[in-house]
Amino acid sequence: MRRIVLMNQKGGVGKTTTTVNLAAGLARAGKRVRVVDLDPQAHSTTHLGIEPDPNMLTVYDVLTRNEPLAKVRHEVSENLEIMPSDINLAAAEVELAGVVGRELILRDRFEEDDQHCDYILMDCPPSLGVLTLNALTAATEVFVPLQPHFLALHGMSKLFETVQLVARRLNPSLVISGIVLCLYESGTRLSAEVLNDLEAFLSQARALGRQTPWSGARVFPSRVRRNIKLAESASFGRPIFDYDPSSNGARDYDSLVRDVLQQEEELGLGGDNAGDQPQAKAA
Ligand SMILES: Nc1ncnc2c1ncn2[C@@H]1O[C@H](COP(=O)(O)OP(=O)(O)O)[C@@H](O)[C@H]1O
Ligand SMILES: [Mg+2]
Repeated sequence: MRRIVLMNQKGGVGKTTTTVNLAAGLARAGKRVRVVDLDPQAHSTTHLGIEPDPNMLTVYDVLTRNEPLAKVRHEVSENLEIMPSDINLAAAEVELAGVVGRELILRDRFEEDDQHCDYILMDCPPSLGVLTLNALTAATEVFVPLQPHFLALHGMSKLFETVQLVARRLNPSLVISGIVLCLYESGTRLSAEVLNDLEAFLSQARALGRQTPWSGARVFPSRVRRNIKLAESASFGRPIFDYDPSSNGARDYDSLVRDVLQQEEELGLGGDNAGDQPQAKAA
């Protein structure tokens, strides 16, 4: 099972769009997928067609009320389920402030769960609070959605250090395994420059030979181009494959799904016998 956090402390870079469409694409490919919405803004919840409802149990109830996961999971389509969020989740930070081991709650709840998933994708808010820490502790991998505009790499080292710190203290097997280029403007010099800088940073890390959580990180070859259909599909509460299967957005996410499945195969993460943790291995 791959448990992946989609993380970037910047907002508006494509975390939610990537969570939802990667999840939907993997489900179409026959994988059993769960989305966990850890953002109080609940964008991936609404993107998957679930409307806010005060009676609906959410990730908030899992973290603060010990509600069983079975009561919080919603089947959205074949092979695809979500643990939704709502605005109450914004209070979790304060409510959990005095709780010992508050970063470990989600991990423990997953461990009690007996429902099999091939992929758990966790959508995070653009901050490094208790919600993101719970995701990082419950995860095996981090994907970083990145919009290649100027200052894109600004803040990346902070993000990488945070993951390293969590790996040291809370989750030794956590690795950054993929960078997803989102809102990509092909042909612009800027995109090419950011990409070069990123590749240089990652290959330098590999050359140093020191094991870091990002030693095996790869920039996925697929690029998600800017495509208005992706933004539209979010407001219609549907993944791009349902909303407009012939759009560039659907093509790009389909291609990303294939990259991710190929990575699964290369790292030996598929199947029930595979080890849960990816090895930090050069891409
Ligand atoms: N490739 C894309 N092309 C066009 N619009 C996009 C694309 N990716 C995301 N968007 C839109 O940009 C906004 C921010 O994306 P989102 O995935 O919500 O980012 P984040 O979760 O990082 O804040 C949303 O309105 C979304 O619909
Ligand atoms: Mg988001």
